[in-house]
Amino acid sequence: MTGKKAVLHIEGEDSAEFEILSPTHGDNCIDIRSLNSKTGHFTYDSGFLSTASCKSTITYIDGEKGELLYRGYPIEQLAEKCNFLEVAYLLKYSELPTADEKDQFERTIKNHTLLHDQLTRFYNGFRRDAHPMAVMVGVVGALSAFYHEAADFSDAEHRSISFNRLLSKLPTIVAMAFKYNTGLPFMNPRNDLDYTANFMHMMFATPCETYTPNPVLVHALDTIFTLHADHEQNASTSTVRLSGSSGANPFACVAAGIACLWGPAHGGANEACLNMLAEIGDISRVGEYIKRAKDKNDPFRLMGFGHRIYKNFDPRAKLMKKVCDDVLNELGLLDDSLFKLAKKLEKIALEDDYFIEKKLYPNVDFYSGIVQKAIGIPTTMFTCIFSLARAVGWMAQWEEMISDPEYKIGRPRQLYIGAAKRDVPDIKER
Ligand code: SDX
Repeated sequence: MTGKKAVLHIEGEDSAEFEILSPTHGDNCIDIRSLNSKTGHFTYDSGFLSTASCKSTITYIDGEKGELLYRGYPIEQLAEKCNFLEVAYLLKYSELPTADEKDQFERTIKNHTLLHDQLTRFYNGFRRDAHPMAVMVGVVGALSAFYHEAADFSDAEHRSISFNRLLSKLPTIVAMAFKYNTGLPFMNPRNDLDYTANFMHMMFATPCETYTPNPVLVHALDTIFTLHADHEQNASTSTVRLSGSSGANPFACVAAGIACLWGPAHGGANEACLNMLAEIGDISRVGEYIKRAKDKNDPFRLMGFGHRIYKNFDPRAKLMKKVCDDVLNELGLLDDSLFKLAKKLEKIALEDDYFIEKKLYPNVDFYSGIVQKAIGIPTTMFTCIFSLARAVGWMAQWEEMISDPEYKIGRPRQLYIGAAKRDVPDIKER
């Protein structure tokens, strides 16, 4: 609490006072939960541009400073000093693990990576050319048809087991979606590999020969997972929270989050960005596309640019660019035409008045696609990788909501602008 009040004066009516809440970081919030009972009014805030939907202790973003904190730790330090499983532990338990806690958590996650055999048969129901995100929505949603022994989500232990099951099984589910798409046989997880190396094994190994994951590429992918793990109340996280607020099964809620993330304005932007770079094709055509991006009558937007919150730079994009350099250097692709085109596009856009005035900077999706393509991941799989990482944030946010005694089922109101009340005419009179 700030101790200060917000006083609302509505002409011809009594004024109303509202508490002002102060956060650890960020802007103060006016507590308007009593607004309708005090004034008979609602607020109107399409897209929630000025609305805090919840209290949270998990992630904080400062859009002006380009800061991203997970449980108070800057993303730059986490990306440098921790692996993804440590970050998952941090998001789940609020603190980084000790060495023993880390070892125990890794062992727990390793022991749940296999899928129920009947779940692996779900894949056969899809066309081979189904978009892997459609497969993800189906298979992850289907997890809610299993595990009846831990389905009382008012029980913290059952919630913890569900968190671990999703964290453990998503690499297997994503890798199987890729294998199914290519017609290659599924590869079972290997417990002698760490989390991300195991994922690369399941993605790229075949039964015909030994596959040894490249440690540089493993580290790059592990960093991508860390950078994508959570991001406050973005569209897909809000989807998971809203569906979870009814008490729905968390696997079904995460499937809803996956569906939302799939959109090109959200997590689907990295796939859309690579497709855009392929369409631009050559540095000589960059100007044409920058022109289109600025044209109000052209729906084209520069994919991988802009953000609802970051109005300076997306710290993840800066880290992603470094990962990109490391991967292309390791693979001898620094002259990669797509990467050179992306760098040129970024340079031109950042010098263009339109992008400067509208504070449009590269976001996390701008370079992540290039890294994944260089590693050998097809563009249709990019948002599956994003979902794998973001599921940790979704589950942490879901857990925070469910365990908050204040939480209620989400039920936004509306500004009704439809037909005034009227009587139904007989069909002869219509
Ligand atoms: C993610 O919320 C999150 O945290 C999301 C995310 C996460 O980790 O969960 O960070 C992941 O979704 C990153 C964003 C990925 N999306 C893209 O890269 C798609 C391209 N970007 C745009 O669609 C857009 O920038 C959004 C959706 C990201 C942000 O939309 P906003 O905040 O609603 O911005 P806006 O649409 O109001 O844009 C403000 C102005 C508009 O012009 P005016 O109406 O003021 O004249 O900037 C323009 C827009 O037309 N604009 C762009 C642009 N993005 C915004 N113009 C050209 N190219 C763009 N990319």
